[in-house]
Amino acid sequence: MTEVLRRIDCAKEYIYKWKSEDLSIGFVPTMGCLHAGHLSLVERSARENDKTVVSIFVNPAQFGEGEDFNEYPRDFEADVKLCREAGVDLIFAPDEASIYPDGHSTYVDVSGLTDNLCGRARKGHFRGVCTVLVKLFNILKPTRAYFGKKDAQQLCVVRRMVEDLNMDLDVVGCETVREKDGLAMSSRNRYLGSKEREAALCLSRALNFVEKVIASGERNVNAIKSEVLGFISNQSGVRLDYFEIVDACNMRSVKVLKKPCLCAIAAYVGKTRLIDNFYYE
Ligand code: PAJ
Repeated sequence: MTEVLRRIDCAKEYIYKWKSEDLSIGFVPTMGCLHAGHLSLVERSARENDKTVVSIFVNPAQFGEGEDFNEYPRDFEADVKLCREAGVDLIFAPDEASIYPDGHSTYVDVSGLTDNLCGRARKGHFRGVCTVLVKLFNILKPTRAYFGKKDAQQLCVVRRMVEDLNMDLDVVGCETVREKDGLAMSSRNRYLGSKEREAALCLSRALNFVEKVIASGERNVNAIKSEVLGFISNQSGVRLDYFEIVDACNMRSVKVLKKPCLCAIAAYVGKTRLIDNFYYE
């Protein structure tokens, strides 16, 4: 049975009951519009925990001005169906006013790790992500929380926050799930028209290209970057936001490739901003 709860106090009651029975709780935070990437986290949580909770909340605090908060795809009924089929025990879908009531004034900032990549491109984004996650962790008290490596910087920032704030949960990173042709699954893929869907392949292709350049022995990051710029500039309808190679531990750009690092790309396909990455480790 999948329970769907919107109220914080009701969700807390469930959680207290499970805790009193000493059950482990796996938590998958999402913004809904679920796809196979999300469901892979759910499946892993269900394997590793007695109970699995999915949150569905399009978090306004992590969208900047001019970003796609209003247009962000929402399909609650389909999400509930997918969660039921996947054996989710509890869907927590609060409304905006209960998460950010009037007077809400506390925000969580992870410094340093958020200076580069999406943190640089989307000011305040990770502050919004971390704030909502602390609130959700406090409400749902998970034993483990599951995050996708597709959002590699988010995963890194959340690990840091959980450690820095001595939070009592394990953060579990899960592999990126892709469409057959290589496109990383994302709720935002729904924005893409058929021409854009084709053009969107250039992110994963650019990363495959980088892997080949690295395999050929290239270690100089500027040289790799300029090859990638050449690759992307040939793709019509695609505007590169960034391609960076960063130290996987601190998210700082490196000049010379060294393990473990993260090769990360963000690009606009039409109006849709997509990200992808791979770890070189
Ligand atoms: P959302 O984009 O809905 O993603 C929810 C979780 O699913 C994240 O951990 C994300 O990394 C993971 N995910 C998305 N696409 C994936 C894919 N193709 N393969 C594997 N995992 C994938 O990330 C967020 O929501 C929000 O920032 C959130 C953490 C919920 C805070 O609001």
